[in-house]
Amino acid sequence: MYGKMRDELLTKLESIRSEGLYKAERVIMTPQGADIAVKGGQKVVNFCANNYLGLANDKRIRDAAKRAIDEWGYGLSSVRFICGTQEPHKQLEKAIAGFLGLEDAILFSSCFDANAAVFEPLLDADCAIIADSLNHASIIDGVRLCKAERMVFEHNNFDDLEDKLRSAAPRRLRLVATDGVFSMDGDIADLGRICDLAEKYDALVMVDDSHATGFIGARGRGTHEFRDVMGRVDIITTTFGKALGGASGGCVAGRAEIVEYLRQKARPYLFSNTVPPAIVGGTLKAIEILSGSTELRDALESNTRRFREGLAKAGLDVRPGTHPICPVMLYDEKLAHQMADRLLAEGIYVIGFSFPVVPRGKARIRVQVSAAHTVAQIDAAIDAFTRVGLELGAIKK
Ligand SMILES: Cc1ncc(COP(=O)(O)O)c(C=O)c1O
Repeated sequence: MYGKMRDELLTKLESIRSEGLYKAERVIMTPQGADIAVKGGQKVVNFCANNYLGLANDKRIRDAAKRAIDEWGYGLSSVRFICGTQEPHKQLEKAIAGFLGLEDAILFSSCFDANAAVFEPLLDADCAIIADSLNHASIIDGVRLCKAERMVFEHNNFDDLEDKLRSAAPRRLRLVATDGVFSMDGDIADLGRICDLAEKYDALVMVDDSHATGFIGARGRGTHEFRDVMGRVDIITTTFGKALGGASGGCVAGRAEIVEYLRQKARPYLFSNTVPPAIVGGTLKAIEILSGSTELRDALESNTRRFREGLAKAGLDVRPGTHPICPVMLYDEKLAHQMADRLLAEGIYVIGFSFPVVPRGKARIRVQVSAAHTVAQIDAAIDAFTRVGLELGAIKK
């Protein structure tokens, strides 16, 4: 039988290649950071990691992770509820819930798992989930696992959200699910309007804040802080694999009973191994650092402003906003990949994004600014984008 599948796969792979959509992995030869080396030895400045606060290789976090291994071991060989819960797991749940301003939290191996876990136990076929059309793949998959009616509102269209909420009125429970920050566009969800509508139509609000936790909002608590709706969001899922040290792991934070119920019913919690001590120790340290000072999120904000202003002045089409995700719109798939390759040759590591990660005809280079970038690196990137943009016709002379 495999021969038939092999032929099918080879045909599909060829068509991905010929459409210019093939995603190759570029191997890096150093720890994650602003300065990295790619295979072959070339040193480049990294502008495509989710290492927003530069904590991915922070010595304090590395030391905390090593201490956690020495004290608590390498792994637990168990799910949480059998014999996989140690004191640091409880500490991290308390720390992340406190940081987010919610009552409790439950850990998962990733935010992908957190999103796979959160909907199915809480909502059944008599309920409705009303989801933004640009939600992350893991929310979409999590919603698919749940029997609730799935309704999708057009991204950022609050008339459409209101229509959907109105038509969900007969349902026993309603929940609006949205990214806090949309990862391909850097848009920050208007949680004020979402919470107003959710309250008007008696719905719960769930936010995936993976691209916000640690740096969005005056104290880096996330989109709910930025939009001044702390206390009005019922559930937040987030990752430890981006700003909070960048290793892996995630959580669902929320109201106490929601978290307690998920501990009884969430399948990725009941049937998957516990988060290892090194990650728990490292994430606890990241939360401690960010709770004590806003220095890193302030540096990120200032780097982002400088970069966005520089590119706009050069004449590039950057999606407006304030988030460190800066999408440089090129629209054409091949141009996006060609420009990313040319920038790499100039020592600026960025990646072109094309379908199916973004809609067809909306190809772009998604630049991600970090607090770890120096002003000189930001300025060098602006120069390289300007040079290459002129050369390839992305900037009109
Ligand atoms: C919005 C969003 N949610 C969830 C995830 C998944 O997070 P994790 O890497 O912890 O599985 C990502 C990562 O790409 C993301 O961007």
